Amino acid sequence: MNYEISIDDVRFSYDDREVLSGASFRLGRGIAAVYGDNGCGKTTLGKIMAGILKPTAGAVRVPSSTTYVFQNPNHQLFEETVREEVGLGAVSTAAAKRALESMLLDPRRDCATLSYGERKRLAFCCALASEPALLIADEPFASQDLFGRQAIAKALRRVPSVILLTHNPVSFAAKNMRLHRGKIIGGCGIARKSERT
Ligand SMILES: Nc1ncnc2c1ncn2[C@@H]1O[C@H](COP(=O)(O)OP(=O)(O)O)[C@@H](O)[C@H]1O
Ligand SMILES: [Mg+2]
Repeated sequence: MNYEISIDDVRFSYDDREVLSGASFRLGRGIAAVYGDNGCGKTTLGKIMAGILKPTAGAVRVPSSTTYVFQNPNHQLFEETVREEVGLGAVSTAAAKRALESMLLDPRRDCATLSYGERKRLAFCCALASEPALLIADEPFASQDLFGRQAIAKALRRVPSVILLTHNPVSFAAKNMRLHRGKIIGGCGIARKSERT
């Protein structure tokens, strides 16, 4: 397997407190999840992979076209309408249109009228519109009903590599890795039934 994504002995501290203490994993194509308890460092790891935070030590290798979907969509939506947000109009891309259709979002909608779950799906559309090689999503299923979860899961299959940062293992992920005490402590191919998201 050609591993396009690798995290080698990554460390990160906020002030004096070490959150990541030698996290390592390698991934190729497909959907993977990094799961763990609140505060275990999932968001920190995701931001390091997306280049938003710089690791204290260690090496990060990700594709140049990596996009990050924040846990809170309000951190990345700024335009008035759905159409403007995904860059439709002057630059109309097939990927953006397909993403909006799959997420059942009308491009004419005013962003201010969208529910939190719809805003999160719109943030996904923006990421999908850029046709990334790697998409990292923080708590992708928060505030999503069954339809929303299924729509996101289906749309993600079009992305070469995906890393989901979640509380629990993800049933449709090919690989689930647990982040615990600053390290990746295991990868299980299939989540246990009782743990499925
Ligand atoms: N900006 C920050 N300054 C100081 N501590 C932080 C900051 N962001 C997160 N932390 C702490 O780092 C730990 C890991 O946070 P985070 O990566 O958000 O975990 P998770 O996403 O798994 O819940 C937590 O204990 C959190 O309180
Ligand atoms: Mg988090």
